[in-house]
Amino acid sequence: MGIPFDLLGRVFARWGHRTYPSWAWPLLARALEALPRGARVLDLGGGTGVLSRAALTARADLKPVIADPARGMLRHAPDPAEVVVARAEALPFADAEMDAVLVGEALHHFQDPEAALAEIARVLKPGGLLWIYEFDPRRGVGRWVYWGERLLGEPAHFFTPEALLRSLRDLGFEGDYRERRGRYVLTARLRGERRRAAARPA
Ligand SMILES: C[S@@+](CC[C@H](N)C(=O)[O-])C[C@H]1O[C@@H](n2cnc3c(N)ncnc32)[C@H](O)[C@@H]1O
Repeated sequence: MGIPFDLLGRVFARWGHRTYPSWAWPLLARALEALPRGARVLDLGGGTGVLSRAALTARADLKPVIADPARGMLRHAPDPAEVVVARAEALPFADAEMDAVLVGEALHHFQDPEAALAEIARVLKPGGLLWIYEFDPRRGVGRWVYWGERLLGEPAHFFTPEALLRSLRDLGFEGDYRERRGRYVLTARLRGERRRAAARPA
């Protein structure tokens, strides 16, 4: 069981951006401002590239790379983006290859979010940006999404924003989050020195 993302490319390409609240977009644009010109931005679990499109709208010079295991989603990626069939738990990128990693509505779908977070820390440059949009399973719409995904047989590895920040700090990040009615945006930067430690969902 689980959501058949491979068959849902058209649906996400048409409606995917509508699943984000309007307040998330300015937060993304602001986070991207500090990136160097032509920065490589990994859109992880990026599907049809909803976040890559938003990033390119904010900064046309960015170079998005969309990584996702579902070819049916990647088929709808925006033209300038590079696409890579890959799982977040084993990324085919070199250490410190990315200037930024974006993860939108995807972390809770990963089979092993702890391994995925360690991979994110590995492929990011020191000082690199991590931007995550997720649901808080305790509140508002997040509670409904949590139960819905459990019923659909998805991994449903939802982190509270506090737990996610704790795990990220253990991996060498510092950051903050903004939450409204069970949805949150977490923005973090990888410090120069990295420590690796296991993360646990809430
Ligand atoms: C709800 S969609 C979100 C897609 C996109 N980020 C967006 O905002 O529209 C979740 C995505 O996570 C991907 N996914 C599931 N398991 C994954 C994994 N282990 N590694 C990377 N991506 C994964 C799915 O294929 C799907 O494209």
